[in-house]
Amino acid sequence: MYNLARQLLFKLSPETSHDLSLDLIGAGGRLGLNGLLCKAPAQLPVNVMGLDFPNPVGLAAGLDKNGAAIDGFSQLGFGFIEIGTVTPRPQPGNPKPRIFRLPEAEAIINRMGFNNLGVDNLLARVKASSYKGVLGINIGKNFDTPVERAVDDYLICLDKVYAHASYVTVNVSSPNTPGLRSLQFGDSLKQLLEALRQRQEDLAQQHGKRVPLAIKIAPDMSDEETVEVARALVESGMDAVIATNTTLSRVGVEGLEHGDEAGGLSGAPVRDKSTHTVKVLAAELAGRLPIIAAGGITEGRYAAEKMAAGASLVQLYSGFIYKGPALIRESVDAIAALPRS
Ligand SMILES: Cc1cc2nc3c(=O)[nH]c(=O)nc-3n(C[C@H](O)[C@H](O)[C@H](O)COP(=O)(O)O)c2cc1C
Repeated sequence: MYNLARQLLFKLSPETSHDLSLDLIGAGGRLGLNGLLCKAPAQLPVNVMGLDFPNPVGLAAGLDKNGAAIDGFSQLGFGFIEIGTVTPRPQPGNPKPRIFRLPEAEAIINRMGFNNLGVDNLLARVKASSYKGVLGINIGKNFDTPVERAVDDYLICLDKVYAHASYVTVNVSSPNTPGLRSLQFGDSLKQLLEALRQRQEDLAQQHGKRVPLAIKIAPDMSDEETVEVARALVESGMDAVIATNTTLSRVGVEGLEHGDEAGGLSGAPVRDKSTHTVKVLAAELAGRLPIIAAGGITEGRYAAEKMAAGASLVQLYSGFIYKGPALIRESVDAIAALPRS
């Protein structure tokens, strides 16, 4: 069924097909129809960050930036949904075209630039949804907020989303917001983490619940840099790390149509880089912080590979675009078949 839909959707421009798919998934969700389109994945409950997940396969950030189709995605069988990246104020993102498919490589290049309707709109959507499962809200900074003041934007978003999120992801790894990735290093990272952790404590008091904080990192750091991030996360008391966002590398897409477009590359070509980042994190963290793995899961066996590398949960984006909802169940099954450690 998805193969047919995909043939039609892939005739449209990537962004038109993205918008149409979101509308259809959203409408199907409101009618409660999406569960009929695909067989539900097996139950594979896990507890991570103190949260209960029906299965460890989630939707990665960026597909539902505004929380427009939360119910629809949940009915497809995802064990958790991450919406956003959302910024304090609405912003249009980069000029179109800004998403490119590279089907020969099962890859996507995007330079969306955090196009979103702002945090207040996202909250209205969350409140209107009837989803009761694990909901991550991924937060970022507005394009025109200077990077030295990025922390202000993250705090504005954290304050607003705190009461409505199961966990909050701090996105410091999009390659499409100038300067953002500098927040992954040295004192900038430490100051950001300290400010967020302090606010998390204040909000926990205020709301009487502790909402876990995850940070999402890039696959383009050296091993030493990744280890430094891991140490900073433990020191500051963060709750999880998401590895990884898209890559700036073009290995695997050289010479392909759109292969040299600017932006972040995702899908199969980022798989090994992302898995390597998971392994480096896992070796350093030694179980002190859970790892959520994203990057190049285009088949169930690659979801299992991420878990074997040290992840506790996985997320899908590009693989979901190419393979459709069947990839969720396939991933759950492959993870369930792993020998138990
Ligand atoms: C079109 C597109 C938009 C994305 N937008 C976001 C975003 O807003 N925030 C974010 O944290 N990650 C975003 N991502 C990154 C994905 O969440 C994921 O980390 C990355 O694509 C690697 O996974 P994949 O290979 O399965 O796609 C985006 C990815 C794509 C392809």
